[in-house]
Amino acid sequence: MRVHPAVRGVLIGVGTLVGIILLFVLYIFTASNNRLNRAYTIPVVQIEVTSDSLSISRGQHLAITRGCIDCHGANLAGDVVMDNPAMGYLAGPNLTRGEGGLPADYSTEDWVRAIRHGVSPEGRGLVMMPSEEYYFIGDKDLADLIAYLESIPAVDSHYDRPQLGPVARGLLAFNKAPLISAEIIDHKGDHPGQPEAGPTVEYGAYLATSCTGCHGAGYSGGAIPIGPPDWPPATNLTPDTETGLGTWDQQDFIVAMRFGLRPDESVVDPIMPWANFGQMTDVELTALWKYLQTLPATPEGNR
Ligand code: HEC
Ligand code: HEC
Repeated sequence: MRVHPAVRGVLIGVGTLVGIILLFVLYIFTASNNRLNRAYTIPVVQIEVTSDSLSISRGQHLAITRGCIDCHGANLAGDVVMDNPAMGYLAGPNLTRGEGGLPADYSTEDWVRAIRHGVSPEGRGLVMMPSEEYYFIGDKDLADLIAYLESIPAVDSHYDRPQLGPVARGLLAFNKAPLISAEIIDHKGDHPGQPEAGPTVEYGAYLATSCTGCHGAGYSGGAIPIGPPDWPPATNLTPDTETGLGTWDQQDFIVAMRFGLRPDESVVDPIMPWANFGQMTDVELTALWKYLQTLPATPEGNR
């Protein structure tokens, strides 16, 4: 069959394009799989867990205010965080000892490896578990958190492991989102101590690590890298007067954190887990506010 040279040209062009796209998809798939299957050997620091009622209630406070219940569910028996064809399926698994939850022999070392390093007992890098933030939780707080997690009632429920969709795989392959926290943690790095609790800038900086995953390391907000497209961008928490909190006072901040209301009475979207952060004590919220006030005013969206 004779094919007109122009048609042939178009066919070759389309064929080449399809080939390039296939290679690109293959690259993303292989590169992301390699990263998902990488094994980690982590030197875990021993920490002492004491299970008195004070430690357990402090641990419960941390499970709420450090975001664990946002992804693992209010009873920590698991929850679906997103289920979106582009980003994939993400659930925080069941952390209780019920059926479908953690095995009976899950040890303190396993808790520390998972929470602080983002690595499972088998050495797998956990997906979308924000350990790069939790790496900075001090030994005493981590011990209290574990004491609480060990005390929660067993619930039977099973959630599948995260399944990354094509967009999430692309973000992983091109390093656009920190999907595997074990990759970005300096596992052998110096572990900062736990500052004394108080309404201080230092304590605020310690608490504010939990805001960086969404508001960015520089706290100036922008699109949330691990969020699906329907999540609103995180806002600017620096004292910039145009786009940030430059015109707010401490009371405005505390009301926004506790009740999800801005000074103009508009409501903060619940993707910002204010109902949980709002359970922080006055001392904790004051410390956070003081710390945010020390940041350089930065225009919105510079993460
Ligand atoms: C942004 C959502 C998110 C938040 C917040 C979060 N997790 Fe996770 N966590 C996950 C996901 C998703 C997994 C499963 C990852 C996987 O299997 O690859 C996970 C896994 C874990 C595991 C490992 C379980 C196992 O099978 O070994 C532990 C332990 C854990 N999380 C504890 C916590 C604690 C404690 C907190 C709060 C300090 C917390 N998580 C906060 C999403 C989250
Ligand atoms: C899971 C993601 C997430 C985390 C974690 C998070 N935020 Fe937010 N935050 C958001 C989003 C998204 C918005 C914007 C909501 C909207 O558009 O209504 C927001 C808005 C806010 C606002 C309202 C600001 C304004 O200009 O209207 C404040 C204050 C705030 N966050 C403080 C914090 C602090 C402090 C932390 C850490 C303790 C934190 N956030 C952690 C996602 C998050």
